[in-house]
Amino acid sequence: MTQHVTVIDHPLVLHKLSLMRDKETPSAVFRKLLNEISLLLAYEVLRDLPLETRTIETPITEMQAPFLSGKKLCFVSILRAGNGLLAGMMDLVPSARVGHIGLYRDPSTLAAVEYYLKLPDDIEHRPVVLVDPMLATGNSVSAAISRLKQAGARDIRFVCLLAAPEGIAQLREGHPDVPVFTAAIDSHLNDHGYIVPGLGDAGDRMFGTK
Ligand code: URA
Repeated sequence: MTQHVTVIDHPLVLHKLSLMRDKETPSAVFRKLLNEISLLLAYEVLRDLPLETRTIETPITEMQAPFLSGKKLCFVSILRAGNGLLAGMMDLVPSARVGHIGLYRDPSTLAAVEYYLKLPDDIEHRPVVLVDPMLATGNSVSAAISRLKQAGARDIRFVCLLAAPEGIAQLREGHPDVPVFTAAIDSHLNDHGYIVPGLGDAGDRMFGTK
């Protein structure tokens, strides 16, 4: 199975992403842009959601109208930067369930270390959208996907803002069944595991912690 990667390079997404990359962009603006982009990404990521028709009456006549069908979605955010993508997606699909996975990167090994996990009980019956703005080494995302699979999730897709080729390769190796959606694929990772040209540390940019 080969990894399916979709680059959502809509002009609105790319414009907002360029503003986010600029190091002079303040945290408040960065968060707002991330929220706006999340809506545009969600639109594409959720394109294949199943529909069912129901009979309704418009003020003019009766019609068969399409509504979302099937089990409610589950969004899962990789803390802490994932929450920047989560908020907009929850606005768009308010009935979705939400899970959180706390992972941090060990600064010396860049390995993912888990410190928190809370998922809906019935995750195996739900389509899962895993969110994290940055797919860098792929270690955190890969670990998060493994935990989701352990918990029974079968239909998982991953959404990020920026991906490095190294992270895509890691997911292709470990989780080729999980489609990846991103606004851009950047050049490479630097020696500290940051995406180049990237946008810096997404969590720090969001919360002004550095
Ligand atoms: N995480 C980030 O926030 N930024 C990077 O460039 C890589 C990982």
